[in-house]
This record gives sequence, structure tokens and C-alpha cells, in this order.
Amino acid sequence: MSARDQHQTLIEAARQARERAVAPYSHFRVGAALEAADGRIFTGCNIESAAYGLTVCAERVAIWKALSEGALGIKRLAVFADAERLTPPCGACRQIIWEFGGNTTIVLAGPHGSIETYEMRELYPRAFDAQYLTENQ
Ligand code: THU
Repeated sequence: MSARDQHQTLIEAARQARERAVAPYSHFRVGAALEAADGRIFTGCNIESAAYGLTVCAERVAIWKALSEGALGIKRLAVFADAERLTPPCGACRQIIWEFGGNTTIVLAGPHGSIETYEMRELYPRAFDAQYLTENQ
């Protein structure tokens, strides 16, 4: 089975979530979908604020939705943007994905059917997380 077939359901959920993006400033619309450890799928889209810095990325919206519904752990997370180049999670999202999903699989997908998959440790090496805090106590 190709990587695209394997992740098709999640990619399609991310593609549909992108349709709900609220991106009147950047016009860069992103969708994300994650499969939680319990098998549920949660989606998110980017939501921009007139106070630009309050904008939240699609990935974090999906993660906040999952956590607030009691889903712990991320098996994989797909990101879909309608851009020529596949769009990886930003730095802030990498921190949050690492904290709540650990070395999960990231699937990048776009409109032309190509996909790339990464492990989080490739995208976010030498991450700071809760371990560093507990070691100091
Ligand atoms: N954005 C995401 O939602 N996810 C990414 O992986 C990259 C960037 C959003 C944030 C902002 O609304 C717009 O894309 C432009 O940065």
C-alpha cells in the first residue's frame, strides 16, 4: 500500500477542514487532521485574528480540540495546504505536537497528490519538553 493510500482518510479530513479556514489576512488556508490514540479523528483549520499575533494554526486547533475532548496521544497528523510546496508545521506547532504527540508521524499533503511523511524527531530535534522541568525538581 502506498503512503498516500495508507493516509488517504486522514488527508481527506485535512483537505475538508481547510475549506473552513478563516484566513482573511494571509489568504493562506490550511487544514489539519489527527488520528488520536483512541482512533478518533480531530480536524482543525487556521483561524486568523485582526490582531495578527493571535492567529492559531490548523495543527494547534486540531490538537486543542482533541485534548478538550479527552483524546490523549496522537498516532499521526496530516497537514493540507493548497500550495505548490508542501507545508510543514511552524515552529510553535512543532513544540505543541512534540509535547502532546511525541515522535508522531506527520503527513504533508497538497492539491497535486504528492505527499511526504516525517517523524517528529526529524522535524524537531533536541526538543524542550516536560522532562527538563522534572529533572530540576
Ligand atoms: N499556518 C497553519 O495553519 N499551519 C501551518 O503549518 C503553517 C501556517 C497558517 C497560519 C496563518 O493563518 C497562515 O497559515 C499564514 O502563516
